[in-house]
Amino acid sequence: MMKNLTNIKMPSNEVIGEALEILLKGGLVAFPTETVYGLGADATSNTAISSIYHLKSRPKINPLICHVASKEMAYTYSVETNISNLLAYSFWPGPLTLILNQKKGSSISKLVTAELDSIAMRFPKNKVFEKIIRQLDKPIAAPSANISGNVSPTTPMHVFEEFNNKIELIIDGGETEKGIESTVVDARGRHPIILRHGPITTEMIESTIKGKVVLKTENNSIESPGQLLKHYSPGKKLIINSLEVEENSSFLGFKDIMPHNKFKGAALNLSVNGDLDEAAANLFKMIRILDKNNSKNIMVAPIPNNGVGVAINDKLKRAAQ
Ligand code: TXA
Ligand code: MG
Repeated sequence: MMKNLTNIKMPSNEVIGEALEILLKGGLVAFPTETVYGLGADATSNTAISSIYHLKSRPKINPLICHVASKEMAYTYSVETNISNLLAYSFWPGPLTLILNQKKGSSISKLVTAELDSIAMRFPKNKVFEKIIRQLDKPIAAPSANISGNVSPTTPMHVFEEFNNKIELIIDGGETEKGIESTVVDARGRHPIILRHGPITTEMIESTIKGKVVLKTENNSIESPGQLLKHYSPGKKLIINSLEVEENSSFLGFKDIMPHNKFKGAALNLSVNGDLDEAAANLFKMIRILDKNNSKNIMVAPIPNNGVGVAINDKLKRAAQ
């Protein structure tokens, strides 16, 4: 029989059992979610969480998201608010992370929260991941499954490209549906504050709470430590808001903004129909593809700055820094 070349496995009861065994002994498992792949560990284990930071080369000041399988599990460790109840009711399970106050005496590792008083909670929409959290009966802390600063993974092969066999098990959930990370909302106050833009848009949140959200400013950006760091960087230079392609570059188009017919280089289209959800789903995957050819730069067409386009532009801006 041919030997498995990778640790990527399709989900089955046996693989779920294997994942639980790894987690219980303090190991790491890569999980599919609806946003991007996560690198997960038992959120109450200092040694397991410490190996996540180590493997990703992640700065210790950048806290992790706790993944839960119910609102009740979230509120075992965090303090509910009116805003968190409304948002969890509307968007969980789904691509929304809520920042809440942590309960006193909580058993979550202090490394997960980077010693902040707050904690990030998310109920992901993925049946396999949900089942594993439920059976572990504890939150699973999981950052995106990439080396810190790199482009986030949206397929199991991306995770393998980042870590090779350093992760014992990568669960194959195919390509992720949303393609970009969850929206992060501080839900502690009277008005929600968006700390990271994502698939749940400002408009969606405002229509749910029937009120205004506060957008993160440069002044309160310290509230989400990870947002201060360089991020989503491909190896090549990214040139955003490009209407035309230059020679020696690859092009990432949108709708009808694509290179002229004579262009010999590589060009991909985020969404021929101009659908922003489709563009988000394709974003990291296409950047990874164009990063691999021998062009010098990746030029990217302008993306409309509404709906999920706000999150796409935010990621492009960081990647182009
Ligand atoms: O979609 C996602 O959110 C993916 C999947 C795997 O769930 N996860 C993800 O994790 O993107 P990560 O570690 O790449 O990003 C987590 C973000 C960081 O910007 C971090 O600073 C912020 O959440 N965060 C975590 N805990 C926080 C806290 N207590 N207060 C403010 N921001 C926090
Ligand atoms: Mg990340």
